[in-house]
Amino acid sequence: MSAYCWASWRGAALMKMKKNKLIILLTLLCTALSYSACNNSDGIPATVTFTEHVAPILYNNCTLCHRPGGSAHFSLVTYDECRKNAGACAYVAKERIMPPWPADPHYTQFVGQRILSDHDIRILQLWASEGAPEGPKDKLIALPAYPVGSEIGTPDLRIPVQPYLLPANSIDKFLLVKVPFLLPADTFASLIEFIPGHKNVVHHVNGDMVKYQFDKKADVFAGERIVNMVEDTASLLQAFQKLGLPNDDGTYPVLQKSVVNYLPGAVGQKYPEGIGGYFLPRKGAFLLNDLHYGFTNKDEVMDSSYINIFFAKSPPKRPVQEFQLGTLGVAPVEPDLIIQPDSIKHVSSHFTVPFDISVLTINPHMHLLGKTFKAYALQPNGDTIRLISIPRWDFSWQYFYTFKKMVKIPKGSTIVAEGIYDNTRQNLNNPFSPPQLVRDRNGSMKATDEMFQFIITYLPYEQGDENISLETK
Ligand code: HEC
Repeated sequence: MSAYCWASWRGAALMKMKKNKLIILLTLLCTALSYSACNNSDGIPATVTFTEHVAPILYNNCTLCHRPGGSAHFSLVTYDECRKNAGACAYVAKERIMPPWPADPHYTQFVGQRILSDHDIRILQLWASEGAPEGPKDKLIALPAYPVGSEIGTPDLRIPVQPYLLPANSIDKFLLVKVPFLLPADTFASLIEFIPGHKNVVHHVNGDMVKYQFDKKADVFAGERIVNMVEDTASLLQAFQKLGLPNDDGTYPVLQKSVVNYLPGAVGQKYPEGIGGYFLPRKGAFLLNDLHYGFTNKDEVMDSSYINIFFAKSPPKRPVQEFQLGTLGVAPVEPDLIIQPDSIKHVSSHFTVPFDISVLTINPHMHLLGKTFKAYALQPNGDTIRLISIPRWDFSWQYFYTFKKMVKIPKGSTIVAEGIYDNTRQNLNNPFSPPQLVRDRNGSMKATDEMFQFIITYLPYEQGDENISLETK
């Protein structure tokens, strides 16, 4: 299903690439001609070369993922690698498929957003159309130094995730994984980070923390570690039983949501001093709700991912809280998320906030039929607070978007999330051909069932929150 999604995504991109090739070439030719005529009028060099102009763009925007050991399946580091892919790079840049950033930057801006300028796109196009010349070798800048083992620093504790063997030519897997831990005492953490073993197979992770009361659970390590949510037809509750999550008396421990998330290109949510942080119980487990492994090529892959924990000396002053609109959330999806075959479906969800909140991070969530997503808040005084607009939904890139500064949503404002689904044949990501009825199934994570969720992490508002920068670099 999601392998299908990938395959069709790539297929579609390539198809479009061929169809548009002629047009692109013609456009490039024309632009090239007009530039040589009025060269340098807007900072475009007369001859675009790899070492002087292209490498700085690729090294700043692409090699985070496109390098050996990165999350993409091919590298854009050496001249040869880039020359071979010059046309494809110009195309994906122009279409704003790469770098992957589905949120519209004209609507709202977020921390760490990766968006090429029009100037950069022009450079990539000209370079491709001019035969991708190398330029003087001594002008090549150094590749940025990419952190190993942690994006943030040296962790205080590293907990391994159960290694998982992905067979050769494997399709996507969606796993529910338990990562138990036992500490010498209750403590606090400032940050919890997921580090993938093999970046190009670990696609994304969304993980919660299970917090046990010490005497209610004899053995946190009992039970299975991994349940495959697609191949195993178990309900979520049966899966929780298999993983041995309940307390010994059958009741359920406290679950703290979205404690550890991962998506290629996204760095762990590190907030300024005094914001965020976690209470870590002596006995607990991380519950990776959705460890998504992408397809593998001809080789089998053993993935050994792990979780890094950075301790904190004191309890969290302002722990981050979370709620969600839509599927399994505080406000329902309206109308019900039942998407008839060959139809376009509009849904929304509305929630009025009962007190002033400061929003840190938001995460829109839909599956393969998603087309667009938009969220905003309507204030009691009639003003609108923009939250996010995703004009071209992409199942593969579901970031937790962090605002550059916290966004205050005053008490009595109504948060509105709107989604459009496309269950026609025209949707190249449609998992069914011909299209079939697809619906929300109690938050089923299978990509062939749909979901509509808008997750919001927030703090109760305090004076001045809207001036605190969340860009910690
Ligand atoms: C956050 C990670 C990330 C960043 C940043 C990124 N890419 Fe990609 N890119 C990917 C992934 C993942 C794919 C999917 C194909 C794969 O698995 O290798 C991809 C696919 C592509 C493809 C299409 C290949 C195909 O098989 O259809 C091109 C071309 C490309 N990227 C170029 C770029 C360029 C140029 C940049 C920078 C301007 C860039 N990418 C930035 C992760 C990234």
